Amino acid sequence: MARTQVQAIVLAAGRSSRFKSDTSKLLFTLCGQEMIIYPLKTLQELAIPVTLVVGYKKDHIKRLIEHHSFDSVSYVEQPHQLGTGDAVASTANLWYAEHVLVMNGDMPLIQPDLIQELIQLHVNKDAAMSFVIAHNSDPISSAGYGRIVTRDQTMAIIEARDFKGDPTADCFINAGIYVFKREFIKKYINTLRTHENSQELYLTDLVDIASRQKLPIATVNAPFDTVRGVNTLKELWIAEQIKRAEIIEHWMSQGVRFTCAQSTHIDINVSIGAGTCIDTGAQILSATRIGKHSYIMPFSYIKNSVLGEQVTVYSHSVITDTTISDRVNVGPFAHIHNNNNIGAGSTIGNFVEISRTAIAHDTKIKHHSYIGNAHIGARVNIGAGTIICNYNGVNKNTTVIEEDAFIGSNNSLIAPVTIAHHAMTAAGSVITEDVPPHALAIARAKQINKADYASKLRRSVNIDAAIKINETME
Ligand code: UD1
Ligand code: CA
Repeated sequence: MARTQVQAIVLAAGRSSRFKSDTSKLLFTLCGQEMIIYPLKTLQELAIPVTLVVGYKKDHIKRLIEHHSFDSVSYVEQPHQLGTGDAVASTANLWYAEHVLVMNGDMPLIQPDLIQELIQLHVNKDAAMSFVIAHNSDPISSAGYGRIVTRDQTMAIIEARDFKGDPTADCFINAGIYVFKREFIKKYINTLRTHENSQELYLTDLVDIASRQKLPIATVNAPFDTVRGVNTLKELWIAEQIKRAEIIEHWMSQGVRFTCAQSTHIDINVSIGAGTCIDTGAQILSATRIGKHSYIMPFSYIKNSVLGEQVTVYSHSVITDTTISDRVNVGPFAHIHNNNNIGAGSTIGNFVEISRTAIAHDTKIKHHSYIGNAHIGARVNIGAGTIICNYNGVNKNTTVIEEDAFIGSNNSLIAPVTIAHHAMTAAGSVITEDVPPHALAIARAKQINKADYASKLRRSVNIDAAIKINETME
């Protein structure tokens, strides 16, 4: 069947009242991607053009979608949120395809195969309308769903608030995806009646209408977990667990080892190379890419970053917006943020913070340092406790440390400053001026040894005396 015969309407105008938040639930993320983006990507994969019905928080939703630059998404505004029937009716002027697919915007676990199957069945059965159902006889997890009720060869969807029967007997729920023949929906959409108890028009009443007209109705039975709707924060949490498990299973199938998969968070746009190991509690988020044979140790947080092959991130490290080349070691307890580039074979050790810095290959910054706004060459060694003083309270200034330089421990490098190649600085230096190539800079107070003063101190009888002696020493 040619895909041009189907157009889609995605419903995204609802008020999200059960979310109890001041924004649309469709803007909440699951595994790093907003809920409304899931159905749109699925439909894009099937090359089905989409009309999105917007209303509540429409500007936020449109802005988000425009940011994603989908091929074919148009918008219709539903001015008042009068139910799913009204939402679909508001798109009537835009129906041109032979079949109109309608789906809720709040079903992020949907897969393209199911939509494909629904369309295929609808066409094969020449149905007036077709929709997806799921078996769920658990009254708790199926609460809130419309229920399929078949009696005496009639079929209807009874919404949760109106259903008075036994959910274990009528144990199929309505998933919220439908395909209608355009002729059918055109003829009957305006015959929907407002329900007294909710003041809404229900799209789902079209099943009862088709059934009474004895028109063919087709249903596809899908696993409940693939069509869960998200009406509450609890349901968002459940759906995110399922999505996360899918993502992790996918990377496992690609040769990635997860030592404690249930505690690991991997976002949907992350990619990980084979042979890499992700340990307990690691969070790998946004569009992060990790190469092969790397090792991410417990409780590391890596967001929007690129890590090469054989990179080791020791535990409790935070890496954001950073590119790290092959064979780099990071952490434990490193904080690397704000656009850094770290060259192959380098080491960023424990309690090191790096910001807005480019570091060439085989450089070592192993202990307790702050490195900001710097360009650091290859094979540089930066001693423990080095601080780059990049901010003078007004501007951030640049520090350059050229290749093969050696920075002694406990240095303060006052930017702007350049330490040229093969230069050294002595431990404890406060470097305020450029250091030429191959030079040794010593910038610290000269040591004075006072003979016998230590013994005098020890002999002093009380603290006051000790203080006095100290004062005389100065
Ligand atoms: C709906 C179905 C229910 C089904 C369930 C599946 C109806 C009447 N009920 O219930 O049978 O089991 O989905 O998850 O359709 N929306 C609008 N405009 C509105 C109201 C809603 O655009 O005026 C949008 C919402 O943003 C949402 C979608 O329509 O994306 C579904 O609305 P929601 O309120 O979540 O419907 P449910 O009560 O879950
Ligand atoms: Ca819903």
